[in-house]
Amino acid sequence: MKVLIVGGGGREHAIAWKCKESKRVTKLYAAPGNAGISEIAECVDISVMDAPKLVAFAKENEIDLTIIAPDDPLVAGVADEFAKAGLRAFGPVKNAAIIEGSKAFSKDLMKKYNIPSAAYETFDNADDAIAYLETAKMPIVLKADGLALGKGVLICNNLEEAKEGVKTLMLDKQFGTAGDRIVIEEFMTGREVSVLCFCDGETIKPMASAQDHKRAKDNDQGLNTGGMGTFSPSPFYTDEVDEFCKKYVYQATIDAMKAEGRPFKGILFCGLMLTEDGPKVLEYNARFGDPEAQVVLPRMKNDLIDVIDACIDGTLSDVELEFEDKAAVCVILASNGYPEAYEKGFPIDGLDTFKDKDGYYCFHAGTKMSDGKVVTNGGRVLGITAKGDDLVKARANAYEATKWVSFENKYMRNDIGKAIDETN
Ligand code: AMP
Ligand code: GLY
Repeated sequence: MKVLIVGGGGREHAIAWKCKESKRVTKLYAAPGNAGISEIAECVDISVMDAPKLVAFAKENEIDLTIIAPDDPLVAGVADEFAKAGLRAFGPVKNAAIIEGSKAFSKDLMKKYNIPSAAYETFDNADDAIAYLETAKMPIVLKADGLALGKGVLICNNLEEAKEGVKTLMLDKQFGTAGDRIVIEEFMTGREVSVLCFCDGETIKPMASAQDHKRAKDNDQGLNTGGMGTFSPSPFYTDEVDEFCKKYVYQATIDAMKAEGRPFKGILFCGLMLTEDGPKVLEYNARFGDPEAQVVLPRMKNDLIDVIDACIDGTLSDVELEFEDKAAVCVILASNGYPEAYEKGFPIDGLDTFKDKDGYYCFHAGTKMSDGKVVTNGGRVLGITAKGDDLVKARANAYEATKWVSFENKYMRNDIGKAIDETN
């Protein structure tokens, strides 16, 4: 069958690699893809937001399945356009993707259906938000309602920072209309875990757990980024936590969305905080995480296309998800300066080293071809993933593999997976 992947980052390279492993896939396309994806798929220069062109391409090329991977097109309703055209696509339609597209929506949903999460209030104007903050307990968390490249969340330690945060989001509009409305949320402490789940509208099946490292610098310092590295599984995600979340978070969420007339078909990403009072939802995303996909998919034993088919056809209850008993660690190689300004266009050396190495992966994020050479083309450039018998070994392997590639301005965190040591 012919498969089109919409997107062009590390997550999409991991999805493309996993599709390529499927015996059922005869031809793979990506829009727009990147230099790494172009080695296994035909890349077409169509923006992820250009629904008419994507639909036309899928029709002309008789695509059997389109996987819409990023948040923006899902929240904007690109999956709806595929459905209208009678084309098979994987990813929630707009009225379900709102679970990621509006933090106010997701908080109200959790409240209504008793899904554990932090206490919150929603505000449409800055004066009311500031009046509320005057009496609130610090630290406190401000969240832009809409999509903000994963950067619309501000953790404020005191009233001054919180007032400044309201100004940034609501008055200076740093994230545009995403900050017209904000959620002000209780600050939670604990371990963070990401659990990505396949959903068919009624049944929800969690994949292996993962943990992201969002801050730019070691020891969780610096600005929030899209993610600087991940590991899977999370040693903090115990069987007990899993049992609790299956019942009170995952199934509760999918039931709530169905009850609201918004059946969710696609990947539901539950960002969890394991607090002293039990697991609570930090956020939902309506898609695979990036870089979470880069550690979870290499561990997955199932044929991805079979599972996606089951999600679309409503037969997920018949599927048993299986993950290798190995661990995986992904270290992001970024351009120095990310998530702020950085230079790009530098040639990348050493990529061939990965070709014959089992259990090692070099997923491309911000790369492109220039004069026949792969060059840097983004903040997050490559995701270096390695597997190992346990997390310590996987981490050692991943950091070893980061040495195989070089480019000017290469930057990485040196403590991805460091928390693992506490459990040994
Ligand atoms: P989000 O995009 O909502 O996941 O937020 C980004 C990051 O901000 C999360 O991964 C957490 O590290 C942090 N965060 C979000 N909400 C809270 C909260 N209520 N308490 C503490 N940290 C939070
Ligand atoms: N790594 C977090 C995300 O994909 O949103």
